[in-house]
Amino acid sequence: MQRLGYLALLFIAGNVYAEPFQDADAAAGKVLVNQYCIRCHASSYGGDGAEIYTRQPRKVNNAKALVAQIRNCNTMLGMKWFEDEELNVAKYLNQQYYKFTE
Ligand code: HEC
Repeated sequence: MQRLGYLALLFIAGNVYAEPFQDADAAAGKVLVNQYCIRCHASSYGGDGAEIYTRQPRKVNNAKALVAQIRNCNTMLGMKWFEDEELNVAKYLNQQYYKFTE
């Protein structure tokens, strides 16, 4: 019984500390990034602009900061994305570049 409780605790802790966008749709996020986000990054970083995500030091250092940065960009650009669209983009950028686990 005690062992079960321990497992349940692990499960809950795992969910609490997981990335905030684990259930999001990365493929949908990729479409949005390609459409709206690359051009400007590419004009300052060249290529496909992806270097902005991997540069050192970079601005974003954990999953929460990634979501926050995407939100800032959207607000700045007046994109009016829904939260699930922001999370889709976060999931895509994380899978592709950042690889945060929390
Ligand atoms: C008008 C130009 C422009 C557009 C469009 C733009 N960005 Fe950015 N983005 C920037 C600049 C400039 C920075 C660097 C900001 C800094 O260094 O303070 C940046 C930084 C970022 C970073 C942080 C990189 C790091 O250091 O880890 C992320 C994430 C990001 N942008 C996501 C997006 C997303 C998602 C979109 C599409 C919704 C987007 N950006 C569209 C100009 C743009």
